[in-house]
Amino acid sequence: MSLKRVRKAVVPVAGLGTRVLPGTKVVPKELLNVVDRPILSYVVAEAKAAGIEHFVFVTGRNKGAIEDYFDHQLELEAQLTAKGKTAILDELLSELPQAGQMSFVRQMQPHGLGHAVWCARDIIGDEPFAVLLPDMVMDADVPALKQAIDAQASVGGNIIVVEPVPHDQTHQYGVVALETQSGRLNKMTGMVEKPAKGTAPSNLIVSGRYILQPEIFELLASQERGAGGEIQLTDAMARLMTTQSFHALEYDGVTYDCGDKIGLLRANVALALKHPQLGAAARDALTPFFAQERTAEPAE
Ligand code: G1P
Repeated sequence: MSLKRVRKAVVPVAGLGTRVLPGTKVVPKELLNVVDRPILSYVVAEAKAAGIEHFVFVTGRNKGAIEDYFDHQLELEAQLTAKGKTAILDELLSELPQAGQMSFVRQMQPHGLGHAVWCARDIIGDEPFAVLLPDMVMDADVPALKQAIDAQASVGGNIIVVEPVPHDQTHQYGVVALETQSGRLNKMTGMVEKPAKGTAPSNLIVSGRYILQPEIFELLASQERGAGGEIQLTDAMARLMTTQSFHALEYDGVTYDCGDKIGLLRANVALALKHPQLGAAARDALTPFFAQERTAEPAE
């Protein structure tokens, strides 16, 4: 098993975003805004803060705007310079990668998350790597991926970031089984993708950040289909668990599922209220709505 440092991240961005239509009819869901920047901007910032140096975006048709987002927009930059709008210009430039630090590979058919990750195999090569599911915006004092990388540095092997959900929601996710549960980092004994209602091994779901060893690619290569007829990353991880250690990390932070309309709304409200420049104005703008709701409540 590789002891190399985690330097590269795979970010699957080929999904169609059907849960947030019609907003995603022409705009990739990863570029929908949360407060003042695209969802993807939060995820890339989290990964950079965790030490990631190279991003592999697994992309698909109608996702070209994602590549453009991480490139210069020369006309816009010239306009901002001419108008002296240096603060926003600097912010835009700070998001650009160094030359050669981002790769884009195409997942030509929607065969599932396992297949998407497998599409990155040649660029990842023989080293441990991170996977970030961009729908999941994770708000944490220590970036969620850094928590995972630190855990991996202490116990080695593979790390899956998890979080508890109400038992009646487990069937929508990958769910992990633990050897014993004590503290936030626990050895796993199994995992299952979208278990039938009432059969989940726990209420800890796979929440969208992974540190994986490169041997996962050998297992994904068999292209076996699982839940929903898709090639599932969870199934390949469950098989890798027979030869390598997997730990589940219950991270310290809050997740917003921005691939869902209400999750996207929650992210907008919560992150607007916390925003260093916009927070106070957001509170002023939102307070009347809550006051209105309270007055509308029936008297006891
Ligand atoms: C994927 C993973 C699942 C994970 C979920 C988190 O499912 O396969 O294990 O729990 O993301 O959002 P999807 O949302 O693509 O159905």
